[in-house]
Amino acid sequence: MDRLLIRGGKKLEGELRASGAKNSALKMLAAALLADGPVTISNVPHLRDITTMIELLGSLGVEVVIDEKMNVEIHANTIKSFKAPYDLVKTMRASFNVLGPMLAHYGQAEVSLPGGCAIGPRPVDQHLQGLAALGAIIEMNEGYVKATVNGRLQGAHILFDMCTVGGTEHIMMTATLAEGTTILENCAREPEIVDLANCLNAMGADVQGAGTGTITINGVPSLHGCAHRVIADRVETGTYLIAAAATGGRVKIRDANPEHLEALLSKLREAGAEITSGADWIELDMHDKRPKSVSLVTAPYPAFPTDLQAQIIALNCIAEGTGTIKETIFENRFMHVHEMNRMGARIRLEGNNTTAIVEGVPRLTGAPVMANDLRASVSLVIAGLVAEGDTVVDRIYHIDRGYEQVEEKLQNLGADIRRVASN
Ligand code: UD1
Repeated sequence: MDRLLIRGGKKLEGELRASGAKNSALKMLAAALLADGPVTISNVPHLRDITTMIELLGSLGVEVVIDEKMNVEIHANTIKSFKAPYDLVKTMRASFNVLGPMLAHYGQAEVSLPGGCAIGPRPVDQHLQGLAALGAIIEMNEGYVKATVNGRLQGAHILFDMCTVGGTEHIMMTATLAEGTTILENCAREPEIVDLANCLNAMGADVQGAGTGTITINGVPSLHGCAHRVIADRVETGTYLIAAAATGGRVKIRDANPEHLEALLSKLREAGAEITSGADWIELDMHDKRPKSVSLVTAPYPAFPTDLQAQIIALNCIAEGTGTIKETIFENRFMHVHEMNRMGARIRLEGNNTTAIVEGVPRLTGAPVMANDLRASVSLVIAGLVAEGDTVVDRIYHIDRGYEQVEEKLQNLGADIRRVASN
């Protein structure tokens, strides 16, 4: 298992390019199962979660061709099996999203119940209720969900009980091949959902309203192949902006979309950063200052994303003042807090572990740390970058799930970081 060794205390300075959005690309790979012709997705990030999804498609018999620039071409019509095995689905929750597209296109699908990050119970009841409303016959057996339909799925009016990104995307994709109109209400509004809808429409679907609370899908009998470029990864972009701010540095991120990061950018300004941006770039300059603490509540888009909560806590650790961070999306998403406290941070959890009160200290000290979730792990890297001395971040396979070339990108910004294989 690899580890990252970080010698803290270097200011991050320089430029980097944002990768394509993992959370868009994963869903598009699943959506390609809806099409009769080849779907080509470009700007796909080179990540473990993407490899897992491609392996999953391969295990179904779907031919996937990848070129050296990570353009991924998916030929769903070579499909031979309709069963997504536990071994692949357990490592990544997004793989559950192959269920609906296979069902809508081929009338049958069997997918293991998902795994994913260890961040609280993450049920799929909204996915299953949505599929059932479209006419799927659903059976659960030995950890697998088996869905079948006689003929085509039927359009329906569906009101989600809660704001769910994966649930909205799953039912939106599936309904594209249903007969008649589907209206989804209380939808999540994340930019990745809009990106997926644009990809579906390029395949010949008729999806309206993505990015708002109500999405209307007029079903079509079939979808064709298409070419689509994935949007920039706003979580990756946000992570590097926070890292630069925490070190008092300056970073310019190219191929990024500032509109998707408004909640973060306003918090970074509050922390004392100077931020400038254009249509596809964002620059942050901290002018060598210590950040000021910020307080926030995570909530569905366009509010502050849960996927940047751990990173902003790392910034608060060394900021001036006390910040309160409330997590409302996932239970049990403060595992990084205990590791940061081992590095000298002063964080206490309140409100049944839903709120972290972070009292900023002038400096952290390096320590061996580990985390068992993607965003928590990268937040420990940020803590390591601002700590005095050496930090070893263990179990970084979590980081490799979501951050492309993390150590190269940080090295280019001047960080003292390297990867070592542990025994
Ligand atoms: C997606 C993102 C993840 C992000 C999250 C919230 C991907 C691959 N992952 O995850 O990075 O942190 O959105 O922005 O896109 N829930 C239910 N029942 C359901 C579905 C969800 O109770 O059927 C709950 C979850 O347990 C959670 C909340 O709803 O508490 C939000 O989950 P959801 O938006 O579905 O997250 P994901 O799609 O899994």
